[in-house]
Amino acid sequence: MCGIVGYIGYREAWPIVLKGLKRLEYRGYDSAGIALMNNSGQHIYKKAGKVAVLEEFAETQDKSGTIGMGHTRWATHGVPSDRNSHPHTSNNEKLSIIHNGIIENYATLKEELTNRGHDFKSDTDTEVLIHLIEEIQKIEQIDLLEAVRLALHEVNGAYAIVIMDKEHPDRLIAARKGSPMVIGVGKGEYFIASDATPIIEYTKNVIYLKDGEIALITREDLLIKQLDNVVQTPLIQELELKLEMLEKGGFDHFMLKEIYEQPRSIKDCMRGRIYPEEGKVQLGGIKEFAEKLKNIDRIIIVACGTSWHAGLVGEYLIEEYARIPVEVEYASEFRYRNPIITEKDVVIAISQSGETADTMAAIEMAKERGATIFGICNVAGASIPRLTHAGVYTHAGPEIGVASTKAFTAQVTVLTLMAFYMAQQKGTITTSKLIELLTELDHIPEKIQIALESNDLIKEVAEKIKDSTNCLFLGRGSGFPVALEGALKLKEISYIHAEGYPAAEMKHGPIALIDEEMPVVFIATQNSSYEKVISNIQEVKARKGKVIAIVTQGDTEVKKMADYCIEIPDANEAFLPLIATIPLQLLSYHIAVMRGCNVDQPRNLAKSVTVE
Ligand code: M6R
Repeated sequence: MCGIVGYIGYREAWPIVLKGLKRLEYRGYDSAGIALMNNSGQHIYKKAGKVAVLEEFAETQDKSGTIGMGHTRWATHGVPSDRNSHPHTSNNEKLSIIHNGIIENYATLKEELTNRGHDFKSDTDTEVLIHLIEEIQKIEQIDLLEAVRLALHEVNGAYAIVIMDKEHPDRLIAARKGSPMVIGVGKGEYFIASDATPIIEYTKNVIYLKDGEIALITREDLLIKQLDNVVQTPLIQELELKLEMLEKGGFDHFMLKEIYEQPRSIKDCMRGRIYPEEGKVQLGGIKEFAEKLKNIDRIIIVACGTSWHAGLVGEYLIEEYARIPVEVEYASEFRYRNPIITEKDVVIAISQSGETADTMAAIEMAKERGATIFGICNVAGASIPRLTHAGVYTHAGPEIGVASTKAFTAQVTVLTLMAFYMAQQKGTITTSKLIELLTELDHIPEKIQIALESNDLIKEVAEKIKDSTNCLFLGRGSGFPVALEGALKLKEISYIHAEGYPAAEMKHGPIALIDEEMPVVFIATQNSSYEKVISNIQEVKARKGKVIAIVTQGDTEVKKMADYCIEIPDANEAFLPLIATIPLQLLSYHIAVMRGCNVDQPRNLAKSVTVE
């Protein structure tokens, strides 16, 4: 949450920082600000609203300078407003700061600083930190780097910060703990950002700042220390990201582009991992735990949001094929319980961003209690892959739309591969069965392509239900997590209230909601629960509900009852979630567009949730 960008070098900083903020806007977009330094001093421009509002506001202002930093905000402390926007300044206005994260003990610090005569201009926790740095520097008479280091010892919480000093227009100071930060290394210039997307067009060489590190950055040099003052040797890595991955590529929205990318992203996810002719799965990332997998007692999956839904699909697959008991937990609940975890447990943490605060905290707790932790992440080099013992990347490519689409299907693909891999290790599946399953899995991208071809029909259905105020999504077996995911997509981007339910549970409560105004989306494909789902459809029709059914190609039964049917290709039940999710993503997308919603940046949300 919140995106930060910094630049120091020989180029004009404004366009680099501004473009970087646009790339990071998915992280938060309720206000934005930029600070620059040039011969006439420090200039700070900040506005509530999107980066475009800031751009327009600063159009006629002095934007020169080769050192600068910018911030796009997702509000935690203080409403979105001009005065709460970052950068914030110290009491003497010589220092300025941008911050991603939360300073938990800000209230106590603020009280102490107020007693010492500090005046605060905003309601933010961030402003307290820069005042604290100024105070420490004044009292201790030390240089800024040391003052920042000491101040960070006094704060609790998470941060990625960049600091500019009016008196030293030749340096930036950056630090992180619990919030991500990448430093791009150029010739005579450095870039700082929350992720690599603002950096990629200038340099491929990056350093991922580690937790508890602080950096002093000048045009010529970079010094990295740990907070305990030990100097570090930075590891420069080469980015694999390509610029075109960050563009809309002719689509109206990133979300639509990402929906259409799924045949490709799933192929990328499986590449080099499945060998259908031999009936073999290879997962290099967890290979060293192959033996351990034969004897584990239990798997606990921890995740949030869409990633949690992927976990539910994983539960179904791992229990079915590897016969290992699985529990799927919301990371935010799991970490605040006192769960029973043993050394024989494997915890799988799923996260697109690899930065979700609750998931990270759940990992840390499970690790302390001796469990083996696997990660399933999309963003390479993020915090979660570095916290886990082993893991498998989803390789879906950058997902920029806040609503998760291709990351979900890639997570489900990895979980499918993990289920088969564990089954292979434990001997709970025969080679001939694996040959059959992997051969079909290999062709799933083509089936997804066919599912995408229903787009025009889905648009027509969207037109019919776009003005609804509620919507139910029902499914059974692995169709249930698909229903949950369909409901989440609809509510987060169209603001229609939607609930996902196991179809059979409907009669225990939600059935009371059904009337002629209520659209009910059924996952009604021909699999083991088909007959039961048909009965549930009858129950909805008997109460005059509007039924939209996702059905298997060629279905005739459901067609007799449903108001609208969207066909998907037939597939083994194990692969149903990968295909049935596609029409639900498109349905939500079209409804949201028709309702005039900001599909890629829905209100109140942010792509990576780095606050607890
Ligand atoms: O980056 P993560 O996968 O850890 O994020 C988890 C959720 O915040 C995320 O899936 C969220 O629910 C999405 N907006 C759903 O589309």
